[in-house]
Amino acid sequence: MSTRTARDAVLKPVPSAAPRSVTILGSTGSVGRNTVDLIRRHPAAYRIEALTGSDNVALLAEQARLLKPKLAVVANPARYAELKEALAGTGTELAAGPEAVTEAAQRPAEWVMASIVGAAGLKPTLAAVRRGAVIGLANKETLVCAGALMMGEVKRHKATLLPVDSEHSAIFQVFETERREAVDRIILTASGGPFRTVSHEVMKNATPAQAVKHPNWSMGAKISIDSATMMNKGLEIIEAQHLFSMPENRIDVLVHPQSVIHSMVSYVDGSVLAQLGTPDMRTPIAVALAWPKRMGCPSERLDFAKVSTLTFEAPDEIRFPALRLARQALRTGGGAPVVLNAANEVAVQAFLDGRIAFLDIAAIVESCLDRVNAGAAADLEEVAVADQSSRAEARRQVESRSAAR
Ligand SMILES: NC(=O)c1ccc[n+]([C@@H]2O[C@H](COP(=O)([O-])OP(=O)(O)OC[C@H]3O[C@@H](n4cnc5c(N)ncnc54)[C@H](OP(=O)(O)O)[C@@H]3O)[C@@H](O)[C@H]2O)c1
Repeated sequence: MSTRTARDAVLKPVPSAAPRSVTILGSTGSVGRNTVDLIRRHPAAYRIEALTGSDNVALLAEQARLLKPKLAVVANPARYAELKEALAGTGTELAAGPEAVTEAAQRPAEWVMASIVGAAGLKPTLAAVRRGAVIGLANKETLVCAGALMMGEVKRHKATLLPVDSEHSAIFQVFETERREAVDRIILTASGGPFRTVSHEVMKNATPAQAVKHPNWSMGAKISIDSATMMNKGLEIIEAQHLFSMPENRIDVLVHPQSVIHSMVSYVDGSVLAQLGTPDMRTPIAVALAWPKRMGCPSERLDFAKVSTLTFEAPDEIRFPALRLARQALRTGGGAPVVLNAANEVAVQAFLDGRIAFLDIAAIVESCLDRVNAGAAADLEEVAVADQSSRAEARRQVESRSAAR
């Protein structure tokens, strides 16, 4: 495991000359759209090298017409003709397929937003790292699957990794890297999701529509389900361990339903530093997009008189076993986090498709962790083997559980 942190080891000075060239991997998603929104408010400060999407060709084409990137890529090759027709005559270079997404990441943009969802973001993000780019990292699954590899490559290629996840952005802003020996613990806050207060019985019958309805944040479907199971917080523990070189037993999770405190760092002298704000992803995106400066952002300002009460509670690992499973995978090491992530991706999609029940998600992940030979996952090939084996096992379990329903 890398002993470096996001701030002390992976940052390098950023040239101040505007405009900053930017590539957005996953521009059509929730994080991608928020990134586009910020860039459109500061048009002189940024120029777009490449945009990538997967299925939402209409939005990708609309974004390309607005931002005039040099390249637009659709990951799903079946949608290429549609993209070609939509952008005919614009002069934007077009490409399709997973390799083309990785090639987009290799183009010479100074700053790259890694906002593809899931393990599909791993290769493109790594490609941006390997050319020493400044990367806004939203795609947490990349660090879950290949954290040690990724952090090693960040160091080797003098890339810069800036966390975009609101919790890790918060920690990044209050973590005194020059005094890291004085850091006692990281405290990741969690909203608790839509099922924080409901019974096990209610969770058993939860529908996808209920589960995607996050109380505070508006996000893509996969991360919304991860928030409902609290697997999202589990993935974030793994992400934090890699970004901040903090052992798992010094990363706490604290349920904070108001989502005002985005996370905290506790120091040996008893001080606790926190970052606060309204729940709007444009703030952590702006922190990364403008780094090392700050930029204006239209997110609603915190009105403390209105907030009035901040509450905290310990997470319930009985109703939310995903938290325990993520910690277990992290402690096991090797390919276990890859297995956890892949099984979770398959199970979440099956739940969204109405094939399995909500509580089946964590059950499938647990069973894959027990059954799949995870290996060492020391390089990309081994990561791919663990990922594929886990997906195959998870699909088998989805089949049998959906047949039994
Ligand atoms: N949303 C948030 O507020 C938030 C907060 C913190 C962290 N994150 C993390 O940020 C990442 C993105 O989340 P999101 O909520 O923005 O997801 P999302 O809304 O589902 O968007 C995902 C993006 O990835 C693209 N994509 C999907 N499958 C792909 C594939 N196989 N190859 C290439 N591109 C693919 C999608 O394209 P199409 O839409 O065109 O199909 C879309 O642009 C996740 O890792 C999530 O955990 C999100």
